[in-house]
Amino acid sequence: MRHITIAIDGPAGAGKSTIAKMVSRKLGILYVDTGAMYRAVALYCLDHNIDYKDRQTVEKNVDDILIDLLYQDANQRVILNGEDVTERIRTQEVAKGASAVGALKSVRDKLLHIQKQLGAEHSVVMDGRDIGTHVLPQATTKIFLTASVEERAKRRCQELTNKGIKNDFNWILQEIQERDENDSTREHAPLRKAEDAVEIDTTGISLEEVVKKIIDLLP
Ligand code: DC
Repeated sequence: MRHITIAIDGPAGAGKSTIAKMVSRKLGILYVDTGAMYRAVALYCLDHNIDYKDRQTVEKNVDDILIDLLYQDANQRVILNGEDVTERIRTQEVAKGASAVGALKSVRDKLLHIQKQLGAEHSVVMDGRDIGTHVLPQATTKIFLTASVEERAKRRCQELTNKGIKNDFNWILQEIQERDENDSTREHAPLRKAEDAVEIDTTGISLEEVVKKIIDLLP
């Protein structure tokens, strides 16, 4: 099969991971969730009482943070220094930390290297904030997924409710707004639509329709 790389970027809660996973299954190629890698770095900081906003301390520790991605039945597992942290990285606290460490150049450089390598060795659907702009600038197809912030917060609440986790709409809305602001205004590789990316607003359209649009865009 020819080498395909699909870059999906967009703000928090736009549906990137759900859609990227569906596209990867349809095409039988790897799904790489880069946010999970930033989350693993944040979890390392939390576990080691490192202030993730403290650039110098994070930088000093960055070489001790070993992240591996494993694939089990096409599902990505995140291994942090030998521990499977796939479930532990899914908290709001870790998400906030991931956004903070994502602003640090030492962390971005380390993860960029791993992500570029995955894209060079495999056909992938990769989602994140800087995939079309930095990680896979030569991607076969680039997508920028959006949805109104209210819609994104509503989806996140639904997701948490489905998992039996209590949540508060206004709190989630604020958390998403803060993370978007942080991710789009940082100095290094901010969240931005690549010039050659196709923007898809997912508000009010079904997941299947979005997946079809993306597959139809493949050359
Ligand atoms: O996609 P996510 O919500 O799991 O990402 C968590 C945070 O990680 C996000 O708020 C910013 C950071 N991130 C990043 O800076 N660059 C990426 N390619 C992916 C995520």
